[in-house]
Order: sequence, then structure tokens, then C-alpha cells
Amino acid sequence: MVRNTAKPVITRSTDTDNNNLYRRTQSLRQRVFQLTSLIWILVLQLVLAGVSHAREPVSAVKYPEKITPEMLLGKQLFFDPILSEDRKTTCASCHQFSHGGSFPDATTLMYNGQPSRYNSSSVFNLSANYILGWEGQFSSIAQQIDALVTKKTVMGLSWNEITARLQQHSEYRQRFDIIYPEGITRQTVMHAIATYETALTTPSPFDAFQQGDNGAISEDAKLGYELFKRYGCISCHQGQNIGGNLLQKIGVIEPYTYDPNDRSQASLGRYNTTHNEADIQVFRVPSLRNVADTPPYFHDGSVSTLEEAVSLMSKHQLGREIPSSDITLIVAFLQSLSGSPHPTLIP
Ligand code: HEC
Ligand code: HEC
Repeated sequence: MVRNTAKPVITRSTDTDNNNLYRRTQSLRQRVFQLTSLIWILVLQLVLAGVSHAREPVSAVKYPEKITPEMLLGKQLFFDPILSEDRKTTCASCHQFSHGGSFPDATTLMYNGQPSRYNSSSVFNLSANYILGWEGQFSSIAQQIDALVTKKTVMGLSWNEITARLQQHSEYRQRFDIIYPEGITRQTVMHAIATYETALTTPSPFDAFQQGDNGAISEDAKLGYELFKRYGCISCHQGQNIGGNLLQKIGVIEPYTYDPNDRSQASLGRYNTTHNEADIQVFRVPSLRNVADTPPYFHDGSVSTLEEAVSLMSKHQLGREIPSSDITLIVAFLQSLSGSPHPTLIP
């Protein structure tokens, strides 16, 4: 016969008062302990809820804390045609502040008379774009400026020509000398422009909303933001710039109108940079800040409205059709992402 040897714990029948008191104190201690744990768990939950609220997938952009002399020097260069051969083109010719820092046409005319390969990108909020260029070909703003001058197709001048011109200009000589001990060099010109560009942040009504101003954006925009997250747009358009930090193929789910025989350079995307077949039609996911101000859309500027862009995204990137009422809400959210740079930094 198998006996169950696991005996129940039997309390001794000879309990003394002391023993009882001991047990009661014990159970009181246990309860206090349980209660404190419970309170701690509640506090922890509240703290975590606070943290997770603060950790919304999109963090707010802010104006620079201080406007520095480098920024103001960079501003002067950005709007000065001295940087172009015929003294007619400035950086702002193709990056218009009245157009969200980009250009109103699908492509722009380059210095060599050819149309640009891509739609001009915005120069706002660059510091949160971890990679630059439609092909994700640049890893820093300075590298991008360096390439832009070196190619000579954009402004028509080489670095030597630019620095020589600036050196002949007494005001620039003075301004550079005050800020940089080495005066006017390729590095310091790049540094001033890059510092200016980095300062071009555009806090928007959506940022005010994220920081607790519940009335800063419309109810539609709030619903649109929820849909933007729920549909999964946020998986690619993520981080502080709601994009600008990933490379993705256009047409991940449903192929984007791409004719394999049409190997025009713009439709090849990142392949142009890497010559890797897997990078055909791969682009830097664009930031959606100020997107309402920067039509036309996509790398080739082939899409003229935000509604159309969102509908194409849902089809090709998510493989689904989003009802038009939801598209309207998402567009309301996208519209809440527009702001303008610090007043001192705009022309
Ligand atoms: C003739 C038109 C034109 C001019 C002039 C021009 N750009 Fe651009 N810019 C473009 C185009 C087109 C793109 C997109 C190119 C690409 O992604 O490969 C671009 C892209 C950029 C980007 C990358 C933004 C990003 O997030 O990828 C920066 C930064 C930039 N330009 C800064 C400048 C500066 C600084 C100047 C002046 C020194 C300048 N541009 C002059 C047309 C121009
Ligand atoms: C799988 C990644 C991915 C997902 C998911 C995605 N996008 Fe995009 N989005 C991209 C890429 C890549 C581009 C650039 C396409 C091009 O230029 O050809 C882009 C471009 C855009 C543009 C045009 C921006 C401009 O300046 O030209 C908008 C607007 C946009 N997406 C909104 C959305 C919305 C809204 C959703 C959700 C319904 C979404 N995207 C989902 C990757 C994605």
C-alpha cells in the first residue's frame, strides 16, 4: 500500500499565547509586506505608464537653445549666390523656405543643364535624418555638402574656386576670422553651412500636442496619428523625423510600377550607390515633417497630392486598401507636422 507521505502541516495543538502572538505578528508583517508590494507595483505601473507616454514613437523637435555666430554665417552663405559660378544660384533656389525647404517641381534644373535625378529634399530637421539623400548615400550633412560642391553639377564651382572667391570678400574674411582661427577653408565653409542647416528645426502643432497641449491639433489629426500607428506606417516612418532613418524598398508588398526594362537611374534608387541588385528601388524613407508643404511627392516627384501618396503607400508598402475616410484622418495628422524654423534663421 502506497502511503501519501506528504503530510499536511498540522499546527501544534499546544500553542501558547506567545506562539499565537508570534503568528499574529508574522501574519501582520506579511500583510504589511504584501500591501507595500502592492503599492510599489501600482507606483511602478504609474511610472511605467508615464515613461511609455513619454516614449511615444515620435519625439518632439525643438528650436536650438542658442543662435550662434556659426549659424548666422551659415545662413548668409546659404542665401548667397556667391557660391555659384554665374552668381545666380543659391542653396535656397532649390530649397525654398516657402516650400518646406524643397522645390515645387518634380525635379530641378542642375547647373549642367540636366534635370536633377530626384525631387529636391527638404533641408529642415536634418539632424534627425541619420542618412541623407534619396539613395541614403550620405552619412553626414558635411559629407553631403562636400559631395554637392565636388560634383560641380549643382553650383558649378569647385572648393578652390569657392574659397578663393570668399577670400576676396572682406566681410566674409572678417566674419570667418572671428569664428574660425584657420579662416576661410573648405572645412570651415562646410562647417558653417552644416551648422546652419542643423539649426533649421521646425517645431509643429503636433510637437506641442506631444508635449501636453491637448488643443494644439484637431481631433481628426489625433485619430489620424492613431491610425498611422495602427496601420503600421510608423514601422518605416519612425523616430523624431517620422522617417529619415531607414532604407526601404518602394513596393515591399505590392511591386511599385517598375518596368524591369526601364532601368532609368531614378527608379534604380540605392542601386546607383551600391550596385547591389537587392538595392534596386530601395530609397531612404523620407521624413514626414512638413510633408504637407512639399508636394510633389516620392523620389521622382510623380505624386501630386498627399491623399494619393498615402493611398499608394497603403497599397505598395502595406498590401491593403485604406478606406478614404481613414486617409482623410491620416492626412489631417500629416498636416499637423508643419512648422517653420526659428525666426532668426529664416530670410
Ligand atoms: C539645382 C538645385 C539644387 C541646389 C542649387 C542645391 N540643392 Fe540641395 N538638393 C537638391 C536635390 C535635387 C536634392 C536631392 C538629391 C538626392 O537626394 O540625391 C538635394 C538634397 C539636399 C540635401 C539632402 C537632404 C536629405 O535629407 O537627404 C541637403 C542637405 C541639401 N540638398 C543641401 C543643399 C545646400 C547646402 C545647397 C547649397 C550649397 C544646396 N543643397 C543646393 C537640389 C539642389
Ligand atoms: C515598408 C516601409 C514603408 C511603410 C510601411 C510606409 N512607407 Fe511611406 N514611404 C516609404 C518609402 C521608401 C518612401 C519613398 C518612396 C519613393 O520616393 O519612391 C515613402 C514615401 C512616403 C510619402 C511621400 C513623402 C515624400 O516626401 O515624398 C508619404 C506621404 C508617406 N510615405 C506616407 C506613408 C503612410 C501614411 C504610410 C502608412 C499608410 C506609409 N507611408 C507607410 C516607406 C514606407
